This record gives sequence, structure tokens and C-alpha cells, in this order.
Amino acid sequence: MELRFHLRNIISCMTLIAAFMVSVAGPAPYLDESLSAEERIEDAISRMTLEEKIAMIHAQSKFSTPGCPRLGIPEIWMSDGPHGVRMEFTWDDWAHAGWTNDSCTAMPALTCLAATFNPGLARRYGAVVGEEARFRKKDIMLGPGVNIYRTPLSGRNFEYMGEDPLLAARMVVPYIKGLQANGVAACLKHFALNNQEHDRDKVNVVVGERALNELYLPAFKAGVVEGGVWAVMGSYNKFRDTYCTHNDTLVNKILKDQWGFDGVFVTDWGSAHDTREAALNGLDIEMGSWTNGLTWGKSNAYDNYYMAQPLLAMIRRGELDESVVDDKVRRILRLCLRTNMNRNRPWGTMHTPGHIAVAREVGREGIVLLKNEKGFLPVKSGKKIAVIGENAVKTLSIGGGSSELKPRIEISPLEGLRARFGDENISFSLGYASGDPNYSCELPSAYDADSLRLAAIETARMADMVLFVGGLNKNYRQDCEGDDRLTYSLPFGQDSLIADLLEVNPNLAVIIVSGNAVDMPWEEKVPAIVQSWYLGSMGGVALADILSGDFSPSGKLPFSIPRRLEDCAAHSFGERGYPGVDSQVYYDEGLLVGYRWHDTKKIPARYPFGHGLSYTTFRYSGLEADRKQYAPGDTLTVTLTVTNTGGCRGAETVQLYASQKNPRLARPAKELKGFRKTDLQPGESKEITIRIPVSDLAYYDDTMQRWVVDDDEFTIQAGSSSTDLRAKTRFRVDSNLAAR
Ligand code: BGC
Repeated sequence: MELRFHLRNIISCMTLIAAFMVSVAGPAPYLDESLSAEERIEDAISRMTLEEKIAMIHAQSKFSTPGCPRLGIPEIWMSDGPHGVRMEFTWDDWAHAGWTNDSCTAMPALTCLAATFNPGLARRYGAVVGEEARFRKKDIMLGPGVNIYRTPLSGRNFEYMGEDPLLAARMVVPYIKGLQANGVAACLKHFALNNQEHDRDKVNVVVGERALNELYLPAFKAGVVEGGVWAVMGSYNKFRDTYCTHNDTLVNKILKDQWGFDGVFVTDWGSAHDTREAALNGLDIEMGSWTNGLTWGKSNAYDNYYMAQPLLAMIRRGELDESVVDDKVRRILRLCLRTNMNRNRPWGTMHTPGHIAVAREVGREGIVLLKNEKGFLPVKSGKKIAVIGENAVKTLSIGGGSSELKPRIEISPLEGLRARFGDENISFSLGYASGDPNYSCELPSAYDADSLRLAAIETARMADMVLFVGGLNKNYRQDCEGDDRLTYSLPFGQDSLIADLLEVNPNLAVIIVSGNAVDMPWEEKVPAIVQSWYLGSMGGVALADILSGDFSPSGKLPFSIPRRLEDCAAHSFGERGYPGVDSQVYYDEGLLVGYRWHDTKKIPARYPFGHGLSYTTFRYSGLEADRKQYAPGDTLTVTLTVTNTGGCRGAETVQLYASQKNPRLARPAKELKGFRKTDLQPGESKEITIRIPVSDLAYYDDTMQRWVVDDDEFTIQAGSSSTDLRAKTRFRVDSNLAAR
């Protein structure tokens, strides 16, 4: 009794003393917000045991790392990315947790965002994802992705921003800023060269220095240097025979040394393969590994991760220095101070009217009108419309792999069209049916294809016009992570169905829902073609906005649509170029990807990069550069006037392409160097200004390993697409001139 009394007294005394000491000494320096971030970080590191540091650099669950509980450093919670906040998962595997509060606003896929050519909208898009991520208590959003579109077969192109590095760079920077303004880190992925999904865990990319620097890295660099991204994710593939996730050249030399990246470099899930390489070659957090280092296994033993016990043992044996781990922890703590230890970050919001509005706007601005003969679109009022095709009713935010979402709402094209045109004017027939979406295999459809086809033909026959809503669908090998499409053609017999429908009703518009180019054998026969995308929550409404003419289309293709697969650079070198031979894929086309190939080799695309029609027309006039000669350090100011010469309001994206007359090293025929989207009322004219730093005209000289602008004559062409060029201006670059 007496002893218990004494103990109680001793404990209360100690508590009082501790409280007094804290009030006198203040919080430990790592918690003191008046100190600089770097001081706080060093203090926290000095208090951690090696075991605590090791715990911070690998997963504790599918999507989290443990922080340092003893010091009150919080867990880091991550989520995919990039089109909204993914649903929750169980602790150790890929089973959906089945929560009821884990839905989100599904934003249109990044291909659609790229097609808007509207960086302001990209910022608002990033802000929506950031606000919802914050509300869902996420610290890192696993996106956006900026791998260059090299082949239309690649399963993840829909999550990326097209074939041009400048477009991807200009769109990704505001996305990152909008997201990170919420105190949530963006995680730019997949660094680098994830240009195909087939064989992604093994394939070694053989690419020249010039293409690497001029095409595949610039958007990542912009995200790091201009966007100030706080996290970057490694890709599964190899570069120069080393996994990109622990690749000294890519991570240490380029990302961290050259670009000064001070954030956290995270694995893709299961992309680490070696403890020493991971430790030394710049990897900071290991996620998703199983015991044998692959993404499958019997149990998810975090202690066996490469950067867990095996690394601890190497350090204890003196084979690696503890400072290697300190650098990783330093970066993780920096991320914490920017996110979950930042008291000033906003609280976030979920599914607000503002979020819905941005989702609709991005969809509406990204939809591309590819063809429109004799003003077939917009749909004229009073028409009886047959809507045919599975993508008119399929929920498409689910599927596709890790970018899948559980949208709070998702309005299908059929629902959107019914709401806009009236139920009485719309008939619907499925026409074809794919199997169920499954991440790793194709499941056969439960429907009978012939009955679906016959029913659709009858529906088409009875209507004034047909809107065929088809395309791909995020099933395995149809715009889905993990593998690529097997053919360029539309799946599930859509081509022959379209031919049958045209027989009974030639007033037919094809609406392709996809994130990739598809073959169009029916192109000549249909009066209108629309490239739609995975449009998310407001998909059907955005589509109805455009098809009805309430808004004029203004999307531009972020990739070329080749006539034949063989016309695409990656496919014109046989299997070497794609899918690779013995897990080696050779980028023999070098710099000539997308329109750079079509233009330089004079192999016209079916629809070129940058193409997109409007319901109105635009005139370009008065293109001028502010001078005739520039020093290498100058910036060109290009002005021109755009006039809306048609009958309705519309937005036009003016694109500026540069060509060099006599480059010392071969260059593509032209390259996008700037663009500006402008909204115009009928009859209205606006002067637009686009600034291009002369340094942006440089090419990467692989012999000298640096960027070079030659003294030479250059041409800037202004176009409504990469082939519809309306005006040009010439100037010289002269290194003897003094910079202004
Ligand atoms: C994907 C990543 C994703 C991760 C976590 C991987 O399979 O490649 O993009 O962020 O899974 O879901």
C-alpha cells in the first residue's frame, strides 16, 4: 500500500518535472517551427536510431510508410493518381477495402488534359486532385505521368500527356503547382522511359543521348525544376541495363545532381531489385515489393524489403555507411515538413460543385473534333438519334490499372445525351459488348454478338442519325496498365459493326473513347469523327456540351493518328523498335517520334498532332517576331492576330513550330516551341503574344554533352495543327550579338 503510494508520487513528480522542462526548454528543435526546415531535419536525424531510419525508407503497408512514432513524425500516406484519389485498399494486398467514404471526383484522363492545350486548366485540375487528396488524408499523390507517347499500342498512354515534350512540360508544371498548393506532394512518374507496358518489368531501353535529352526527359525536368515537384517515382523498365529505379545515371546524376531535385525518389510498386544498387543509386523509399522482390508472393513481409533488414545488415557489417540512409531520411523529412508536418496546409474539400465544374470543363475543352463534313455536327434539333456502342453506357473510371477510381458520380454518354436531347429523341442499342474488366486477363462477354449487332442495325435504321460511341475501354490490353494492345484496330468487332450501320444509316458520327490512336478503316465513309477520352465523372455531360453545339470543340490532338501502324516510327523498324527483341527495345527512330517522324519522313498521319476542328473558323494574320536577329540569351516575342471568322463562339490554339535551316546535327523538320489558346466571339479578333527563349531552340549535342544553339537562320510557323500552317516568320540567331 505504502509502496504503491510512493510510486504514484514519484510518477506525478516526474510528470511535473518533464512538463516544467518542456515549458522552459521549448519543444525539441525538430518540432520548432521558428527554425529553418533544414535545421529541424538535421535535429530529427540526430535523434533517430539506425533502425528507426531504416523503417522510414520502406513500406509498412501497400500505401504507407511508418514515419517515426517515437518522435511523433507521422506516417506518410500515398494514393494513386493521377486522375483523382483512388479508393482505399486493405493493408497488405490489392483488395479494395470496401469503404463507403473513399469515392472522389473522377477527372478526365491526362490525355484529355493535354488535348486542352490549356495550362490554366491544368492548374485547376491539379488543385482539384490536391484538395480531394488532402480531404482523404493523403500526403503523396502518385502522379502525374509524363512519359512520351511513342506507340499507340502502349497501355498507359491515357495516363500521360502525349507525344510532345514541350506540351507535356507546359501542362505538367501547373498541375504540380495546383496539387502541391494543398500541402500534398505530387509524385511525377515513371522516371524514365516507360513508353510501353509490354515486358515492362524487364525491358531495357536502348536510346541515344539526343532522344533521351530532347524527348524523354524534358517534361520530367520541367516538373522538377519549374514545378518544384516533391516526389518522383522510378519506372519498372531498365535503361543501360540497369533498373531505372536504382539507376545511377538517371537518379543520382541527372535527377538529383543536374536538376537539383531535393525531394523523395520512390520506387514503383515492386520495382526495386537490389539492396546495394537501391541504397547507392538514389532510391529513397521502397514500396510494393514482396519477399522475393517482385510484386507477387505469399506474404508481404516488409522486413525483407531490399531497403529493410538486408540494408540494415549491410550497414551493420560496415559495407555501407549510415550517411547513405541519412540522405534518404533527410529527403523524407523534407517531404514531411512540406506535407504532413506543415500546419499551414489547407484542410481539403471533396466533390464540390467547383470540382465537378472543372471536371466538366476539362472534358469539354479536351474533346477533339477530327472530321466534320458539311457541318454534320453539332446535332440539329428535333433529330431522332440512335446512340450505339458499349462505351455509351460503360463506367470507364474503373479499370486501367492503378489509375482506377471510385467516382462519387459518373455520367455516361447515354445519360448525358438523354439529359440534353430528351429521352424521347434517343434510342439506344449496345451493338457490341466486351468482357468484364479485369486487370490481368480478358474475360469473354456474356452477350451474343450477332443478336447485339442485329438489334443495333434495326435501331440505326429507325433513326435520323447515329452516334456510335465506341473505342477502347481500359480492360486488359485495351488502355490498361500491365500490357499493351495487341493490334491497332478497334476491338470487339466494332469496325465491321460500323460498316453494317453505315449500310442502313450513313448519317453516322463515330465517337472514339480511348487514350490512344486507333485504326479507322471507315474514315472516308463517315461524315464526322470525334476523339473523346476517358472523361471521368462528367463525361456524358461534357460530350453532350460538344455534340449539341452548346460549346464549340477546341481540343487538339496531343498525338498523331497514323494511317497504319507501320507509319508510326516505333513500328517501322520491326520488332527491334517494338516490342523489342530479347527484352531489348531499340529506339532506332531517335528524335523522330510522332509528328517529328511524319513531317521529316513525309509520311502523312491520318490526323496530325495538334489537329482539332471547331464549329467556327479562325483567320491568322500579322505574324511577327519582334526582331530579325537574336543573341543566344534573348527571348523572341512573337505576335499574331487571330480572328473568329465563323458564326459561333470558339477557342483556337495557335501553335508555333520552329525549324532550323542548316543545323550542325540533324534535326526534325520542325518542333513545337509555344502555343496559346484563345477564346473568341464571332467576329472578334485578338492579338496574342507568345514568348520563346532562344535557348529553347537548342538541340542536345551528344558529342559535347550539352545544349547548343547554332548561329543560323530559323523559321517560326504558326499553325492550327502541325500540318495546317498558316503563317511564318524568319530570323537569325547570332552569337556575336550582345544579349538584350
Ligand atoms: C503503377 C504505379 C502506381 C503503383 C501504386 C504500379 O503498378 O505502375 O503507377 O502508382 O502501382 O498503385
